[in-house]
Amino acid sequence: MILVTGATSGIGRVAARELAARGAHVILHGRDSQRAEQTRRAMIERVPSASVDVVLADLASQAEVRRLASEVSQRFPGLDVLVNNAGATFGRRLETVDGLEMTLALNHLAPFLLTNLLLDLLRRNAPARVVTVASGAHQRAALDFDDLQNRRGYSGFRVYGQSKLCNLYFTYELARRLDGGVVTSNALHPGFVATSFGRREGGVMGLLMPIAHRFAISPEEGARTIVYLAASPQVEGVSGKYFFEERPVRSSPVSYDAESARRLWEVSAQLTAL
Ligand SMILES: NC(=O)c1ccc[n+]([C@@H]2O[C@H](COP(=O)([O-])OP(=O)(O)OC[C@H]3O[C@@H](n4cnc5c(N)ncnc54)[C@H](OP(=O)(O)O)[C@@H]3O)[C@@H](O)[C@H]2O)c1
Repeated sequence: MILVTGATSGIGRVAARELAARGAHVILHGRDSQRAEQTRRAMIERVPSASVDVVLADLASQAEVRRLASEVSQRFPGLDVLVNNAGATFGRRLETVDGLEMTLALNHLAPFLLTNLLLDLLRRNAPARVVTVASGAHQRAALDFDDLQNRRGYSGFRVYGQSKLCNLYFTYELARRLDGGVVTSNALHPGFVATSFGRREGGVMGLLMPIAHRFAISPEEGARTIVYLAASPQVEGVSGKYFFEERPVRSSPVSYDAESARRLWEVSAQLTAL
């Protein structure tokens, strides 16, 4: 049983299909019922044997994340893998219904909350795995704990990089808290992938993306490391690592600061009322 968030597009959509092709029961998460149903049908067309269920939630809303976690816990007896894939970048500063900066809320607080709420379900199927899609964009990022909501000056790319650094702090801190490895926690960079990412935002990013995509890899290639971390026996018991092209690699020096990771965990728990 594998839950893939953001499985209606891009890397998540391909990863969900590939995992279904390998015989996994896939729980396909989307935020739009029509897109999710269209994705489910396309998956079954490509993989007639696919065993797939659909769940819906707008992950920018904490109430929706909580409702999703409770629906998954009620409908399914256990979870083998949670793939935290949904994510986006925003050209201008937006706030969620919870009054939080959108990038932080969607890219970091949503997977933080969802994972914590699904930990019991994962433990039930242990050994289980949490796979979080980070990005090489974290490399130059640093967090300002005095302005996590980026109220003082906003740059979409900088804030996106920070949210992906949060993904790494979260991944490493979760691995430490799950000491013993019955549930593992790893992150990955999928590469620069030609998906819808950044295209719907308009602005400079929206204009540049189609050009930049000439140099990007396909969603099929981008999904490879997700599938590897979710399904390969080679990473059984491996935890607290960052992967690129199916290999463990070093993330930025800042991302290994355990004190910042612990602090972010505590702030995130407060911001999500965990
Ligand atoms: N593309 C790259 O080069 C690249 C590089 C490094 C890391 N990544 C990471 O890879 C992950 C997947 O991105 P992608 O490239 O596959 O982009 P994508 O094609 O835009 O897919 C993003 C997915 O997230 C979902 N999503 C966005 N906002 C959501 C919300 N509020 N609630 C629920 N779901 C939401 C989207 O749903 P809809 O279909 O409804 O829009 C879509 O399924 C992201 O975490 C991204 O940061 C991408």
